[in-house]
Formats: sequence, C-alpha cells, structure tokens
Amino acid sequence: MRKHIVAGNWKMNNDLVQTQSLITELKKQSQTSDAEVMIAPTFTNLSAAFEALKGLEIEVIAQNMHFAESGAYTGEVSAEMLKSVGVQTVILGHSERRAYFNETDELLAKKVDAALANKMRVIFCFGEELADRKSDKHESIVENQIKKALFHLKASAFEQIVLAYEPVWAIGTGETASPEQAQDMHAFIRETLAKKYGQETANSVSILYGGSVKPGNAKEIFSKPDVDGGLIGGAALKAEDFYAIVNAF
Ligand code: 13P
Repeated sequence: MRKHIVAGNWKMNNDLVQTQSLITELKKQSQTSDAEVMIAPTFTNLSAAFEALKGLEIEVIAQNMHFAESGAYTGEVSAEMLKSVGVQTVILGHSERRAYFNETDELLAKKVDAALANKMRVIFCFGEELADRKSDKHESIVENQIKKALFHLKASAFEQIVLAYEPVWAIGTGETASPEQAQDMHAFIRETLAKKYGQETANSVSILYGGSVKPGNAKEIFSKPDVDGGLIGGAALKAEDFYAIVNAF
C-alpha cells in the first residue's frame, strides 16, 4: 500500500545555525498522523541535520544530485556522496531545477537511473506552467514529463519512486491548485501509470501535491483520494506550520 508522506523542501534557505535551530523547533512538535516526514536541507547541512535529529523519526533527504558516480563535474554532488552521509532519498526534477538550471527530461532520466542504481528512493517532481493550464495542455505536459523521465523503467522500480505534482504557477505564489484540480491531475497521473504498468503498480505509488500548501488548506487537499501527501516549500520553514500540515492527515 502507498504511504502518506509530507516532505519539507527547504530550498536554498537556512545556514548551519538556522538548520540546527529549526530542527530544535521541529523536535518540540508532536505528530498525530501516520505520515512519513522528511526534510530536505541544503547539501552543506545534511550531516548537521542528521546529527541534530537523532532520535526523531524524520528522514533527511537531498534536493538534487548529479548522475555521474564521480569525476570532473565542479560543484556537483553524486549519489555515492549523499549515501556516505546517510541520505537515502533524493528530490529530482524540481521545477526550479528545470527552469533555472536547464534540467531536461532526458537529463532527469539519467539522474533517476543513477539514484535507483544506488538503491536510493526518488521523489520525482513535474508540473505544468500557467500557460499550459490556460491552454488546456496541462495533462499532456505532465504525461510527457513522466513518460520521458520514467517510462524506460521496469514496474519494480516504482517501489523506489514517489511522484510529486507541482504546478509551476502554484509554487511560492500563494495560489494553490484547488483540491479538485489536484485530485483530477493525480487521478490522471495514476491512470497514466496504470496504462503502462498496470493498476497494481499505479495504486502502490505515492503521489504528492506541492505548491503553496499551508496549514489552512492542507486538510482539504489531503482529503482527496489520490493525494498521498505534500511537498512543502515556504511553510516547511516554520516548525509549527510544517507540523500542522503533517498532522492534516
Ligand atoms: P511552496 O510551498 O513555497 O509553494 O513551494 C512548493 C515547492 O516547490 C516544494 O518543492
């Protein structure tokens, strides 16, 4: 069965001291839901986050990685390196990586392969831009993003994959997809998976929604049958808000 997951994507926020103090605040919160909880600090603070979290069931995950094992890729971080500090899950394909760092579906397919080869779990992000939705192309855009980066995989690979639908127009804008828009897209994504891999595989994959999820709207979004959790940006930077979302299940 698929799991409920709430992951905080801290993006390029929080230096070392801020990372430690946000984790101190997270430790004061209590969890009442069954969701798996994850936080994604920046690379430089991954080890400190593990250290600070000791004893708490929050998984520390990475925001990105390179596809190569090692070599002349200045400024990049490999799966091996992430694993060596204890990271087992990586976010790939975030729209900010696609928009600002030219990450293409083809490149993302290579990154997914590298993560899976290293037995890491992938939170694979995708989503349409506002113009795509206005011109009613949102489903075909999302379908293509998924197909190009993931459909070369075997069904069994989906045991290691979590999908995250993040409409670009809802990220950091305060505007969310309505619960119905999220549900419709998540159902479409599951149907797309089912056509290729069968219903059983499709039903087993967690599909997260991301884009201006806040304590005030999380419950309604998470109540939809195909929404299995959230990828949280801004609201993950405040411990109380983050746990209000975690406990919205
Ligand atoms: P916001 O929650 O700030 O809109 O960010 C969403 C996101 O990009 C998570 O990866």
